[in-house]
Parts: sequence; C-alpha cells; structure tokens
Amino acid sequence: MRIRESGMPVEEMWSTFFNVQHILDELQINNTLHNVLEIGSGYGTFSISASKRIVGTFFALDIDKKMIDIVKTKAILNLAPNMEFLEKDILKENTGISKGTIDYIMMFNILHHNRPEELFAKSMELLSHGGRIGIIHWRSDIETPRGPDLSIRPKPEQCLEWAIQHGFRITKSPFILEPYHYGLIIEKP
Ligand SMILES: C[S@@+](CC[C@H](N)C(=O)[O-])C[C@H]1O[C@@H](n2cnc3c(N)ncnc32)[C@H](O)[C@@H]1O
Repeated sequence: MRIRESGMPVEEMWSTFFNVQHILDELQINNTLHNVLEIGSGYGTFSISASKRIVGTFFALDIDKKMIDIVKTKAILNLAPNMEFLEKDILKENTGISKGTIDYIMMFNILHHNRPEELFAKSMELLSHGGRIGIIHWRSDIETPRGPDLSIRPKPEQCLEWAIQHGFRITKSPFILEPYHYGLIIEKP
C-alpha cells in the first residue's frame, strides 16, 4: 500500500529543501554503520551520500519503479557500489533482508502514512539490538513550501509516542533541521 501522497515535487525542487550533509551528520549516519535501509528512498536525495558514509550495504527501498530506476542511475554515475535496490511495498512484501541484520533505518519524510505503526513494527524486526531509526519530517510550527497537509503531518511528539509504544528508546530527542524539518533518533534496546 502506497504511503499517501503529499505532492512530492519534481526532483530539482525537492533537493532544494535539504542540506543533505548537515542532515546526515545530525542523524549520525557515518562509518560506524554497516547495513543501512532507507524506506521510501524516493529520488535518492539522501541515499547516495549516505551509502558513501557507511561501511556495509545500503538498501534503497521504494514501491515505485521509476524512483528505483532514478537511484540506480545515480549510483552508477556517482560510483556507489555498495548499494542494493529493492522495488517493494514495505508494508505488503517481504524485503528479503534477514531479520536483525540492519544497523540503521532511515525514515525520511514518510511518516504521514495512514498506518505508520506498521513501519515501526517492521523496523523492529529488521534492526539488530542497538540498531537505530533516524526520522526526519516536515515541521508543523512554521509555514513550509511543501509537505503533507497539516492534518496528516506527524509532529515530533507523535513520533515519540509511536516509538515508545513499539518498544524503542529515544537516542536523540527531537531537534530542528533548518529550515523546514525536524529530526530524531530512536533505538531498538
Ligand atoms: C515523500 S517521498 C520521500 C523520499 C525520500 N525519503 C526523501 O526524503 O527524499 C516518499 C517515498 O516513499 C515511497 N513509498 C510510498 N509508499 C511506499 C511503500 N508502501 N513502500 C515503499 N516505498 C513507499 C514513494 O514512492 C516515495 O518515493
């Protein structure tokens, strides 16, 4: 089931909303990580840079073939050999990744799903103990040029509630990623 649309704009515009390296720094995506999964990798705005920071395999997963093809091409052009591409519905299909083998899951701009809890449950299975989830999403406390409608846009407090309900610990409390986003990191005990 496709995560409900929030009007993702064309790639040229989407990429202007983020300072990718700053976000990856703040989300602690670095060379201590082995296997990383990005759920809903989209245009690969973060995927290529993230794959170059880690020492294992970077799994870029998206339901949309067009998006996967874009990221595949970028991986070739940017010489990112440690990437694997999964054209899958994270909610309905088996990822093929063994349980407990992922160090870090990126949930970037996807938690406006109508069943977000399932993403946490699925992540709990895939993560190793001590494995983390990095979340970013659009802020609700200011006007933003894009992003899902405020009625479905999760606030940081909501993310914390989902995380705690699913047995995660809070590693890094919600913080602002100027200009339009916030982030947080949670961990599987
Ligand atoms: C708003 S975009 C975010 C892209 C990327 N994470 C970023 O922040 O640049 C959401 C992405 O999730 C993908 N998606 C939606 N539903 C999905 C599902 N059920 N399983 C896997 N990917 C999904 C969409 O195709 C889209 O590329």
